This record gives sequence, structure tokens and C-alpha cells, in this order.
Amino acid sequence: MCGIVAYLGQKEAYPILLGGLHRLEYRGYDSAGIALMQSSGITMYKKKGRVDELQKFCNNLDTSGSLGIAHTRWATHGEPSEQNAHPHVSEDGSMALIHNGIVENYIILKQQLVNQGVIFQSDTDTEVLVHLIKNVQDKEKVSLPEAVIIALRMVEGTYAIAIISKDDPNQLIVAKKGTPLLIGIGDNEYIIGSDGAPIVEYTKQVIYLEDGDVGVIRIDKPIQISNVNDSKNLHRSPYIQTLELNLEQLEKGGFDTYMLKEIYEQPKAVRDSMRGRINLEKDVVSLGGILEYEQKMLNARRFIIVACGTSWHAGLVAEHLFETLVRVPVEVEYASEFRYRNPVIYEDDVLIAISQSGETADTLAAVEIGKKRGATVIGICNVVGSTMARETMAGSYSHAGPEIGVACTKTFTAQITVLALMALSLAKKKGTISMSQYHKLINDLESAPDKIESVLHYEQQIQRIAQYVATKPNAMFLGRGVNFPIALEGALKLKEISYIHAEGYPAAEIKHGPIALIDTNMPVIVVAPEQHTYDKVVSNIQEIIARKGTIISIVTEGDSVIKKMSKFTIEVPKIDELLTPLVTTIPLQILAYHVALIRDCDVDKPRNLAKSVSVE
Ligand code: M6R
Repeated sequence: MCGIVAYLGQKEAYPILLGGLHRLEYRGYDSAGIALMQSSGITMYKKKGRVDELQKFCNNLDTSGSLGIAHTRWATHGEPSEQNAHPHVSEDGSMALIHNGIVENYIILKQQLVNQGVIFQSDTDTEVLVHLIKNVQDKEKVSLPEAVIIALRMVEGTYAIAIISKDDPNQLIVAKKGTPLLIGIGDNEYIIGSDGAPIVEYTKQVIYLEDGDVGVIRIDKPIQISNVNDSKNLHRSPYIQTLELNLEQLEKGGFDTYMLKEIYEQPKAVRDSMRGRINLEKDVVSLGGILEYEQKMLNARRFIIVACGTSWHAGLVAEHLFETLVRVPVEVEYASEFRYRNPVIYEDDVLIAISQSGETADTLAAVEIGKKRGATVIGICNVVGSTMARETMAGSYSHAGPEIGVACTKTFTAQITVLALMALSLAKKKGTISMSQYHKLINDLESAPDKIESVLHYEQQIQRIAQYVATKPNAMFLGRGVNFPIALEGALKLKEISYIHAEGYPAAEIKHGPIALIDTNMPVIVVAPEQHTYDKVVSNIQEIIARKGTIISIVTEGDSVIKKMSKFTIEVPKIDELLTPLVTTIPLQILAYHVALIRDCDVDKPRNLAKSVSVE
């Protein structure tokens, strides 16, 4: 969740580190810090708050040096504060370390160090690492790389770390387990990042560290990589890959915020997620990444979908797609619950993990469980080269392009598109779909980008609805069938970026409790396009109106019934019922966005959140 950047080269490190922190800020933004190797030793600057605060603080200070490490934090252990911000330093100030991940056995390690007289400065788990490494180095009289390896063998949990030490001011040490770390190889320089964002401006040549890897980086020698699990400490040759990321994809491109840019990118994202996967001439849908495991998927007794947050909502949409088209039972699970539930998994189950980042700790743990119990494990993720992409047996990328806004938008619609393609491809091969239905769905899927585009034109109209919703303390979102997950997603979008309390329910369910909340002050946003339960939704709306609730509806163009019952209505183009989520979710994203702006919230970096949740 935290952002890590480090630099070793011929240039001034500070501007590169600072630029990297700005690019990584979406990963966590409650404090930031930088440590620079200077002739006098390590100089460190830390600030609570955003990277801008750190930058202001560093103005007019000495930021010279061509080796440095920097960090933007999402607090796990210890509140956001200067003291808890990274880097953390050894007691004598000779070594500085930044960390992403969680040291699970930090209490035991800390106690051992405290017993030896070490004085801690922060409440973090991270600080244990720097004292432990220093302690090993001093006691065992070994080099720093050796000390890092010995110390990391004692550590339980996850880490991506970068370390500098005054003892060798030309050396940068990095290590990773369970959370990503990349070494960018430039021209006589190295840029390290917790993802490609701080690197791509300088180079596209990267090494993805493997779990347990420890890398020793110097300008005067080739990079040395060894692994903490290798008792002989042998070095392996690094495998250099090309980063699949462009700088323009990381910019706002004229929009005020990343979120709005990403909302508007949805026609392209959905098109890109279909690109090369539908062959009209041959009349086939084919997802190259899963071909090897297709037979397993065709023979699946059951699909188990695991995911978190918005990706879980995409999984709920997939439940409808797969059960309707492929006629195989589907279970959709919160990965965080699934992993601790001792679930029953059969060898002919197919577990599909969905994740934008491919780094969500709970989803990755569910993947491991699926693999251990012999299921076929398929991944759907957006970030190329992510842990999920490497840990699943096969999978499909959603190809939405980088998403920087913390709230997922374009990756959600791209996930649904990939899941629809997957269901269609399997259904055709299994013969569980008629050819006319298959062709209609392909046709409608191909029309989705244009239909999404047309919904984007309603932004001004939605802005007016936002003025109304922004004055309310609560909101309720209702939907049925394949649009129930869209109600959940609409509520999640609103609460996470505008901080208005919102709940999503299946429309018929409210009479079992939530209807007690309805009064004149409760906006009820009903996702009610043309679908087989339309008339039922009409009755549900009547029940709300009878209790003086205010209806805001999302309906299909030309609707006359629900429109008359609503204070506000947004019309979306007609599309096959199973694909309606692709269009009904768009107005809800725009609504949440404008409510958040009216309430003066930071839509790209909502409070307490981070883009990828790589801790459990
Ligand atoms: O990267 P993932 O898709 O695995 O992330 C899962 C959730 O943290 C994520 O979908 C979250 O709910 C959204 N950012 C909310 O908009």
C-alpha cells in the first residue's frame, strides 16, 4: 500500500525521488519522507501529510546527493505522524530503511531488541527491520548484504525494502517478499519503485524481484541478486523485462482529477478489454491467456469467484453471467472471509480471482488456498506483471490501462467485459447458449463503448442531482438481479469518496428492515433498467414513495413508468439485460464524483484509503 522509490546514479537524487513520490502517492498518503546520502552521512526529512508538505518543508534545505530512498505511507502500525513516517534509521543514524508490507512477528523481534538495549523511536513494525539488520551486522561482523539476508530469515510477514548505509555510501540494497519491488535500469543509474510509476520516465528496462530476493546495487558493479531461501547464498543473473507502461497513461491529460479522466476513459477501456478477443469472421470469442486451462473450465463442477471491494462487485455480476450462460453454479466470496473459512474446494472447481491491482493480500491468499487444494486457479487483473498475474495458473488481463484514482471506475467496467467474454466463450463451447443469444450478446457487447459514451454526456444533468444528494447525510441504493451489484457499487463509490453514509440492497429486501430508514430525507437511488424484474422494482418503488422517500432512478431510454415516480431520472441506452451493468454503473460513478466535489473532498485520494491493499 505504501509507495517506495529509491535512486542511485550520477544525477541529483532528490528531484527524482520527489517526482517518484508524487507518482506513487495514490498508494498511500498520510506521511512521506526522504533519506539522502550526503558527504556528512545520511540526511533525513519527514513530514506528516501529503508529499506536497514534504516538498514545501524541503525547500531551501540541503537536498544534495545522488543516492537516496523515499517513501509515502499508508499507516498500519502507528498513527500517521512524523515519528512513524519512513525512512526509519538505526540508533547511530548510519543506516536508513523504507518498507512496504507488514512484519507480522514484530512484537517478538522488538522485545528481543529492547532486551538488548535498543531504543525505538516509533510505533511502527518497520523500525524493527532497521534495528534488526544493524544488530546482526554488528554482532556477526558481516557485510550489510549478508546482514540483510540473515535478518530477513528471522522476519515473518511481507516486505519490500530499500536500505542505504553510511558504511558504504555507494550501495543500495533492496529486498522483497509478498509485495512487489522493481529495479529500473537506466543509463548508469538505477531507479527502484514499488511499481513502475516512478521508473517509466527514466527507463523501461526493469527487473521484477522474486519473493525472498535481496539485490545489491552499485554503479561500479553488476547488480547482485541472491535469495534468503538459498542457504548457499548463490547469486542469480537478473532477468530484465520491458515495463508495459507509458508516461502519458500516468498523467491527468487535461482533466482536473484522475477519477474523472478514468470515468471518461471507459469507452476506450471496454474496447481495449475486448480487443483481439472477438473474431467475428470465425465467430469465436477467445481469451488467449486461459486457453491452456479451457478444458478444465469447461468441465468445472463449480466456479468460485474471490475478490474484494469493487472487484467483488464485478464477481457478483459474473455470477449472473456464468450461471445464466454457462449453467454452472457460481459462488462469489469475499477473499478475506474465504481465506479463513476452511472452504470446501474440489479438484474440479475453478477458482477465479479478480483484482485490479493484482496485489490485494486477501485475494492473493485465496489464490494460494485454491492452488493448495487442487482447484484450477484463474486470475483476472489489470496490472501487467502483478503478483496475481504470476501466481495464478492462467488468466486474462482487463487491459483498462493504469488506474490512479483510488476509486475504481474504468477497471470495473473492463472486468465485467472480460468476465462476459469468458462466459460467452465457455457457453458457446458447452452449447449452453443458443447461437442467436450468443450473437446478440456479442453485438451488444461491441456496442457497449458507444453506449457508455452516450451516458457520459449526461454529466451536467447528474451534477444537478449531485447538488441534491450532497445535502443529505445518507443514501440508499437499490437494484435487482444483475443490477443489485451495481447498487452495491454505487453505494461504495458514494461513501468512499464523499463520506456520505450509503448502503446498497436488493430492492425487494428493504421491507425486511431497511425500509425503516425511509423518510423525506433519504434519497433512494434505484437502478431500474429494462430487465425481467422491472415490474417488481416498480412495486418496490411504490413502497418507498408511500413512505415519502425520494426516488432517483436509472432507467432505460424511453421509460415512462418509473420516470414519473422519480424526482430525478437518468436514462441509459438499451442493452441486453445481462450487460446493463456496463451502462447503469456510469451515472453512479459520476454522481459520487460530483457529490464529493461539492463536499470539497479529495476524490483521487479519499481519506484513510489507498489504491492497492497489499496488507490484510
Ligand atoms: O486491486 P483490487 O481490485 O484487488 O482491489 C480491491 C479493492 O480494494 C478495490 O476494488 C476497492 O474496493 C476500490 N478501490 C474501491 O473503489
